[in-house]
Amino acid sequence: MINLKAVEIKPNVFWVGGIDWDIRNFHGYSTQRGTTYNAYLIKDRKITLVDTVKHYLFDEMISRISDVVDPKKIENIVSNHVEMDHSGSLPKLLEMAPDATVITSTRGEKGLRRHFKKDWNFKVVQSGDTLDIGNRTLHFVHIPMVHWPDSMVTYSPNDKLLLPNDAFGQHIASSERFDDELDWGILREEAAKYYANIVMPFGDQVKKALSAIKPLDIDMIAPSHGVIWRSNISKIVEEYSKWANYESKKKALIVYDSMWGTTERMAYEIAKGLTESGINVKISNLKTNHISDIITDVLDSKLILLGSPTLNNGILPTMGGFLTYLKGLRPKKKIGFVFGSYGWGGQAVGEIEKIIGELSWDIPYENINLNYIPDEQEILNLRKIGNKLGKYL
Ligand code: FEO
Repeated sequence: MINLKAVEIKPNVFWVGGIDWDIRNFHGYSTQRGTTYNAYLIKDRKITLVDTVKHYLFDEMISRISDVVDPKKIENIVSNHVEMDHSGSLPKLLEMAPDATVITSTRGEKGLRRHFKKDWNFKVVQSGDTLDIGNRTLHFVHIPMVHWPDSMVTYSPNDKLLLPNDAFGQHIASSERFDDELDWGILREEAAKYYANIVMPFGDQVKKALSAIKPLDIDMIAPSHGVIWRSNISKIVEEYSKWANYESKKKALIVYDSMWGTTERMAYEIAKGLTESGINVKISNLKTNHISDIITDVLDSKLILLGSPTLNNGILPTMGGFLTYLKGLRPKKKIGFVFGSYGWGGQAVGEIEKIIGELSWDIPYENINLNYIPDEQEILNLRKIGNKLGKYL
């Protein structure tokens, strides 16, 4: 294997992660740009590694660590988060450095023991605990549910460096390591997609995490996925703050699927009405768009319109799957509207309304449920409801 280089991000702090160029599906989330698993090596009196990489990129991480130090000399391994994209290389690494201490939260220890069935040297740290590693003292702050109950951040005041694991991540595979080396539009899009698909259910916990890190003197945020923030820190923190408060843009998103074209026609007619009212609208067909991309638009849009025909007395399976995903991610403070079509039965619209009602969305107008093919008056009504919804927004 070619020797891979570590990247020094601060004096004696190195990125030693792995780049997953090929991954296009991350537990159901479409990752068109691939991703990275970022591990950070701190060369101090006690050599410390913060997080590891997915198991199949172990050799890549070791090659980068070996560029700086002999991996056997690692004394501390901080595990900020149990999920296997960050802990997957622990077993092999601890075979190389068996005396290393694994530093993690209480839930972290439980999770790592349960997952790997190994009796490693664990050191459990509470929120606010510190660890002297030589010229540096590392601080640990627990941020439960961002992304799992075990999640914590590591902070090095000497380096003004925050290592927050999943928080502020983006699924981007690149040889660029820093935010100012890529376009803000791409970063914002991928950070939003990451937030929408991974962190959105935990807005309150994100707010707590943001409060916990606010007093810290930080000039670099190095997450466990994607690029390192050094030039756009205030911009990405501001975005997180908006997302955590469920603030969205004054725009509409229509998500639908269709069997014989009526629900599709309805989507396009309602969109005309919305556009006439001056509202920007995006139409997403569930047949051609991945649910993880649609969820990113849900994060950004205040008004969400959902359309499905009735199939077998219920919702079309594509919409059913999307609603299952939506329910789990629990977007809040949305305005909702439901439409659909049927030959007989017609239960889909009611079922969809029930689900978005459980999310406490504002549903200002009753659904429209059309039998077979819309006539001229019904077409006109669809445009009118689009217009009314636009004005309501
Ligand atoms: Fe990147 Fe929750 O793991």
